[in-house]
Amino acid sequence: MSPSRPQPRPGVLAIDAYVPGKSEAPGAAKVFKLSSNESPHGPSPKAIAAYNAVGKHLEDYPDGASTDLRAAIGRTFGLDPDRIVCGAGSDDLLNLLARAYLADGDEAIYTTHGFLVYPIATMGAGAKPVVAPETNYTADVDAILARVTPRTKMVFLANPNNPTGTYVPFDEVKRLHKGLPAHVLLVIDAAYAEYVRRNDYEAGIELVATTDNTVMCRTFSKIYGLAGLRIGWMYGPAHVVDAVNRIRGPFNVNIAAIAASVAALEDSAHQEMARQHNLKWLPWVAEEIGKLGLQVTPSVANFVLIHFPATKGRTAGDANDFLMKRGLILRQVGAYKLPNALRMTIGSEEANRLVVKALADFLGQPA
Ligand SMILES: Cc1ncc(COP(=O)(O)O)c(C=O)c1O
Repeated sequence: MSPSRPQPRPGVLAIDAYVPGKSEAPGAAKVFKLSSNESPHGPSPKAIAAYNAVGKHLEDYPDGASTDLRAAIGRTFGLDPDRIVCGAGSDDLLNLLARAYLADGDEAIYTTHGFLVYPIATMGAGAKPVVAPETNYTADVDAILARVTPRTKMVFLANPNNPTGTYVPFDEVKRLHKGLPAHVLLVIDAAYAEYVRRNDYEAGIELVATTDNTVMCRTFSKIYGLAGLRIGWMYGPAHVVDAVNRIRGPFNVNIAAIAASVAALEDSAHQEMARQHNLKWLPWVAEEIGKLGLQVTPSVANFVLIHFPATKGRTAGDANDFLMKRGLILRQVGAYKLPNALRMTIGSEEANRLVVKALADFLGQPA
């Protein structure tokens, strides 16, 4: 018997929809949103000016090939613009890659606390997400390789990972790539690359340039402060770029996003200011929260993962409620299999100090 109403493809209704970070703290006089790893500095003033300028021509379709933006990315990173695709955030590109390379019955591997868009994109494409365990909240190359089967078509690696903030050194990423069959696509999601200052880190450009089965995704949502415009890009082999271009929306990137991100790329001083702020406050926040007796996973990104005990009155949920009352919105990460932790974006000096003070008060009160 045929169903009485349209049925989504298998797997779709098994997806837990992505729940974004909260942005409201009812009752609080002043709110600090530290739940979505946005930039406390906002975008470059030059990006805002470029955004405002395109408002005069909203009747025009964008350039569907994002030519100016790909050229600007090419200049900035020393890449061939023909091997770049722009998307409505890197989410768009992650989904396009899944749609282009996964079919029913295929498998895509990601890690236990990996970014939640990976299983969503995988299941949305009809494939099966396979979870590889992490070691010390960090992707484990051997565990990933051990889960490769004849059905594996993709491996998603967030480097650095959200929500843990940990990273995989370049030698390990190369070892991962070497261990994968040639037909498996390695997707390196480097959304936070601009924040990382480690000699043994490489965002993925070299592997993409030298192999046929690696793609790197990047975003303007983080250090560039353009999350609201939804703009990201990927760099990949010509054959992957060709496949993605065939299925992406013909105008998937809007004119405001193109104009603002071109201007943002050109304002290296603004980026450097944001990076220096993070380099100063990331260790400060981690150290001060550590001094309170809470464990903080070492992070190289613009956020920290704070672990709480399971003791009643001291849990991550209790801390979250306490912080919320003060207008400090962190991210509960139960959906990332981290029910005893909160993720905090590095905010302004004022926000960072308020969180540390609030956590001290929270821990100082009777449980
Ligand atoms: C690891 C990771 N990848 C991708 C994204 C998505 O970024 P975008 O805003 O470009 O879609 C995020 C956003 O939080 C992220 O944390």
